[in-house]
Amino acid sequence: MARSWATSGIDLHLEPTGGGVRRGLTDALREAVRTGRLAPGTRLPSSRALAADLGIARNTVADAYADLVAEGWLTARQGSGTHVSDRTVVPPAGPTSPRPRTPGRPTHNLVPGTPDLASFPRAQWLKAARRALATAPYQALDYGDPRGRVELRTALSAYLARARGVRADPERILVCAGFSHGLRLLGAVLRARGARTVAVESYGLDAHWNLLAAAGLRTVPLPFDERGTDPRELTDQDAVLLTPAHQFPMGGTLHRDRRSAVVEWARRTGGLVVEDDYDGEFRYDRQPVGALQGLDPDHVVHAGTASKSLAPGLRLGWLVLPPGLMEEVLAAKGGIDTCGSLDQLTLAEFLSSGAYDRHVRAARLRYRRRRDALVAELARRAPRVHATGIAAGLHVVLRLPPGTEQPALRAAAWQGLAVHGLHRYQHPEAVVEPRDALVVGYGTPPDHAWSGALEALCAVLPE
Ligand SMILES: Cc1ncc(COP(=O)(O)O)c(C=O)c1O
Repeated sequence: MARSWATSGIDLHLEPTGGGVRRGLTDALREAVRTGRLAPGTRLPSSRALAADLGIARNTVADAYADLVAEGWLTARQGSGTHVSDRTVVPPAGPTSPRPRTPGRPTHNLVPGTPDLASFPRAQWLKAARRALATAPYQALDYGDPRGRVELRTALSAYLARARGVRADPERILVCAGFSHGLRLLGAVLRARGARTVAVESYGLDAHWNLLAAAGLRTVPLPFDERGTDPRELTDQDAVLLTPAHQFPMGGTLHRDRRSAVVEWARRTGGLVVEDDYDGEFRYDRQPVGALQGLDPDHVVHAGTASKSLAPGLRLGWLVLPPGLMEEVLAAKGGIDTCGSLDQLTLAEFLSSGAYDRHVRAARLRYRRRRDALVAELARRAPRVHATGIAAGLHVVLRLPPGTEQPALRAAAWQGLAVHGLHRYQHPEAVVEPRDALVVGYGTPPDHAWSGALEALCAVLPE
């Protein structure tokens, strides 16, 4: 996190240490002087420049400087700025001695990827679990069908057909431990078939690219333009991994023509399409887009997860497989069911009793309100920052003026706000126009912490 200040011409690395912004800054500066990283005589940036760089109030910097002048670490002279003291300072003994401090835990969490876990429907889940356990035959506690419990596959088949337009026979559904597990299995199958490359989106999750790489597959990014992922460069790749309903993280829907082009490619070449439908339930503008799998169930694997709609800790996901793929996936799975039967039966009961629909509707309302509040606050307080993508999901990409992503992330660290920059989601080989942006997971905080997180976010955005 080194940073050079134009005002002073020095490079200085400062780590926020928690315990309040003023104290964190004072400690970090003192540590830099004490360890000699800031040499005697060094001129520090003005409080205005440092405040702007760190995204904190100017008074906070001025107070930190004043504390360190009082302690003897810095000197301040009217007209010539603040300097590191020339004399060696003996640190005062006792509790005020500088202690190495660990980076502070962020106070606000807007990291994308998690739903509001405090709103997990515990009572309804418990009710479903009780009913599932009370009615399950004792054989349900035995080693199970490696595809997963038939009750869950049947409930998923009905739900996915109704809510997502998936053509899903229970015989073609495989229950897995979340999307990542499903992707690992598909990677192993592709590799065993002799596949070498998988086309992916220019923006996505490195965890998924790494899973494919671990299976011995090279990931090749497709171009990305203002209409989203462009499948024209799909040629001799063996498979393509897409988030068609809500591109992660950019937030667009795969254009109708491009959806057809992907399916066309799969039919022409025999390539496999993997559709990651991670948050397909959460669309707020009444224009839901059906699953890509509905266009061609023979070439598209539809992959879903309970990680966004319920909780990632459940580790429950599913693959709806094209004909002929089940045996190979089961072989990759080792021929065993990998998810606990009681959790599977509980989710089956949760789905078929209508509790899942009720929960998703309530969650949709909660997240939509948060998204609306975020967009309204942006318009009021940061008009140069724009929310992009469709009104959907649990996260939003905020486009920032060029050159402001890194300063905003530094400011966020100082404000105790955990949030991600867009750059970390860019495939290393992607050729895309440079975009400065934050990826904000507005679904993550519990209700009581949401407004504080929004406030902290607004404080770090360029005005
Ligand atoms: C793009 C995307 N796909 C899938 C998932 C879900 O992964 P899993 O089901 O392994 O928790 C996530 C979770 O963050 C995600 O962001």
